[in-house]
Amino acid sequence: MRVVALEDLNEDMVLAREIIDGENARVLLGKGTVNLPQYAERLSGIGVRWLYVEDAVSAGIEIKPALRQELADQAEASLQAIFASLQLDRQPQYLSMVHLTQELIREVLANPELLVNVYELRCRGGDFLGHSVNVAFMSLLIGQSRQYDDSKLKILGVGALLHDIGVVSLPVSLLHRRRNFTLEEKLLYEQHPVLGYHAVRDSWDISPQARGIILSHHERSDGSGYPRRLLRGDIHEFARIVGLADCFEELAGGHPLSQEMHIQEAVELLSVQAEKWFEASLVKSFTNRIPLCPTGATVRLNDGRCAIVVSQNEGFPTRPVVRVIQDATGNPVATASDIDLLLNNHLVIQ
Ligand SMILES: [Fe+2]
Repeated sequence: MRVVALEDLNEDMVLAREIIDGENARVLLGKGTVNLPQYAERLSGIGVRWLYVEDAVSAGIEIKPALRQELADQAEASLQAIFASLQLDRQPQYLSMVHLTQELIREVLANPELLVNVYELRCRGGDFLGHSVNVAFMSLLIGQSRQYDDSKLKILGVGALLHDIGVVSLPVSLLHRRRNFTLEEKLLYEQHPVLGYHAVRDSWDISPQARGIILSHHERSDGSGYPRRLLRGDIHEFARIVGLADCFEELAGGHPLSQEMHIQEAVELLSVQAEKWFEASLVKSFTNRIPLCPTGATVRLNDGRCAIVVSQNEGFPTRPVVRVIQDATGNPVATASDIDLLLNNHLVIQ
């Protein structure tokens, strides 16, 4: 399996994972679909940029979901029920979401080598439900790296899942506009942390610290955040962690208002702004969990050859195992060969 941009699809590729229309929650293209180039224009129209495909050169490459799909779906469903209750002015039931947070924590703790797969984020993101699950997953990874105990992880996970709950109270037309807000719309959008805080304020199931995450996830250490323009000492570490995960989603492609930067650019920008926005050690514990070249990505080596990333070498995000599929002139190689970049220091991914 590998990940291919729409413009690179060819007739020999078979769809490896179904395409779901996020807005209508229905399957657009099923696993096993062939003749993929004919769907490229339609997929592009609904915002799909790339697909998981099987083809001869990627045979045997396995892309493991960072988070079990079933668990991600359950978390999204419980959030959807909460969002729906709020829209109907009813008091939401938070207990099933709190239980699912515990499941998420178990999943993260059971797999200490879990990495963020940016393609997975882009797959699940794009609406506030998928985005919230992504942010919760990444926040828990950061919490795990900080050696948080179970009770701290639980607060972090609940706050992260609910961090954008305030958007439910915003006009739908505003959320559909995505970017290019007018100043008035921007100010309205920036009210969502306060609206979210008020939505959960009287709920016994949500701890005061989790409520604080909702209120402060857009605050930045240098005072440039919102809604209260807090400075670093006044922003709880939980809120900075969720803010960091949220910011990465916005840069790299999972957030509904995303800029879809290249992963490397997003990681670089976060690293440069680390101290101004969050805290250098927090950003470091996060970026260590992001492979710069995700498994399944196509990359170019410094000798001009083209390769697919086959697997990661833990702790060496820029030195994965790759499979060469094209020579330096762009012609397919007769026999694809796997190269461990950890053992071949003269080769670099460009
Ligand atoms: Fe937000």
